[in-house]
Amino acid sequence: MNMLNVDTKPIDGQKPGTSGLRKRTAEFSVPGYLENYVQSTFDALGGVLGNTLVVGGDGRFFNAEAIGTILRMAAANGVARVIVGQGGILSTPAASNMIRQRKADGGLILSASHNPGGKNGDFGLKYNISNGGPAPEAITAKIHEMTTKLTRYLIAEEDAPSIDTLGETRFGDMVVEIVDPVTDYATLMEDLFDFDAIRDLFASGFTMKFDAMHAVTGPYATEILERRLGAPAGTVMNGVPSVDFGGGHPDPNPVWAKPLVDLVMSDAGPDFAAASDGDGDRNMILGRGLYVTPSDSLAVLAANAHLAPGYARGIAGVARSMPTSRAADRVAAKLGVNAFETPTGWKFFGTLLDAGHATICGEESAGTGSDHVREKDGLWAVLLWLNILAKRRESVAEVMAQHWAEYGRDYYSRHDYEEVDKAAAEAMIDALRGRLDGLAGTAAGPLSVERADDFAYTDPVDGSTSAHQGIRLFFEGGARAVMRLSGTGTVGATLRVYLERFEAPDGDHSLDAQEALAPVIAAVEAVAGIKDATGRDAPDVRT
Ligand code: G6P
Ligand code: ZN
Repeated sequence: MNMLNVDTKPIDGQKPGTSGLRKRTAEFSVPGYLENYVQSTFDALGGVLGNTLVVGGDGRFFNAEAIGTILRMAAANGVARVIVGQGGILSTPAASNMIRQRKADGGLILSASHNPGGKNGDFGLKYNISNGGPAPEAITAKIHEMTTKLTRYLIAEEDAPSIDTLGETRFGDMVVEIVDPVTDYATLMEDLFDFDAIRDLFASGFTMKFDAMHAVTGPYATEILERRLGAPAGTVMNGVPSVDFGGGHPDPNPVWAKPLVDLVMSDAGPDFAAASDGDGDRNMILGRGLYVTPSDSLAVLAANAHLAPGYARGIAGVARSMPTSRAADRVAAKLGVNAFETPTGWKFFGTLLDAGHATICGEESAGTGSDHVREKDGLWAVLLWLNILAKRRESVAEVMAQHWAEYGRDYYSRHDYEEVDKAAAEAMIDALRGRLDGLAGTAAGPLSVERADDFAYTDPVDGSTSAHQGIRLFFEGGARAVMRLSGTGTVGATLRVYLERFEAPDGDHSLDAQEALAPVIAAVEAVAGIKDATGRDAPDVRT
């Protein structure tokens, strides 16, 4: 087979963010763009000769075409075997599982997660290492460095084999193995959870809706919920993946999954509802009349994990990203297990999971997961909730009320200002950073600042450090606000403001979150001047 050595020049801006490289599809699909990034990834790894790689994505526009290019480049770079999900499909957690189960050297996941897809949407690519998790910063920094000095890429001249038919084919010296994307993952879920108890729950008339948002979890949810667990047909909504997610925004939050939220808030709503994102790693949990924040969900899952067979022996610890509410810490303290606070980004949980320091992890950005894989896992969270509800035989509202009565409630919300002017947003954060030392003891609208800092993290396992991970304002009385710029946006900047206030176990847990947080919202505005800096009166998204 003829392998080409193609001359190329570095392309600006190929810098992986929170979760790999994400760009507009139009930019990613320019000839040479993907090729440069893939070659830089291979080079950053010191070459991929003889490697086994897993490849799959969320099925968005350009997915299949990009896999064809990756296969041709893998062959030219001496990869021994590529395992590809049939049709190019693999949810992110299923890809993580596949890397682990097949002892692959790594994997390439094609996804821009919850960002819209299609010609006018976004595309993304990230490299995961042999533990199944996202490449750590040392590797992503190396990839970026390689993109700035690339002079050639290697690619097979021939077209890649079809990815639609199960089985093995040879492509030059490389084996291309097309596998069913769902089976291994579904079996892993069956090992972790009490499927008999969940089947009984459905048989008793319990009702559920799962919104796959026209994205990758459709086939997974249909197999697991409707086939293996006996939920009635129609439990899974929008279950057929489409290249542009039905024109929607596959982000499971109260804004983008509004139809589902409206349904559970109505009298006709199901007992339980959930949704997942483009690539299947995020989740949203709803009970009749109630939205469970990701931070609360993490705390409830940690407190009740022992009800699932996979966690019956207890958990080693809970890890959360810094902007996630401190509800999970209270559970960890009561259980007497480790609690970790990491920067935003699932990659920071990898070392803790590998070392056995933490079992359950979560982020306010609708990610929850455990040591069963090294990615967050949307359906895993849904199944653990189902397992808990099946064992406790209580409603979601009852579970939440009891949780808050035991631990207190951390009222929580995130306010996003999307596509704001990047320079202005950065200037605001920089200015705030410069004033941090003087903020303690000053008044901030209705509250006063107790202390303020710029979050920095030292990984307790490998000693790596990450600075400037978010400005934290701690207010007298226990409220907290965090401000940071998103690392996953593709246009301008997204300012995220995370707001939180604790209400003790015997306090009032019945308030609307925005109402309960009004003093914190006013305090942040007084300190940071968000309206002035962004030119916006209100956030675009409130979670
Ligand atoms: C992705 C990452 C998460 C992260 C989230 C928000 O989903 O996998 O780890 O929490 O994006 O990141 P951002 O930088 O946009 O706040
Ligand atoms: Zn995702």
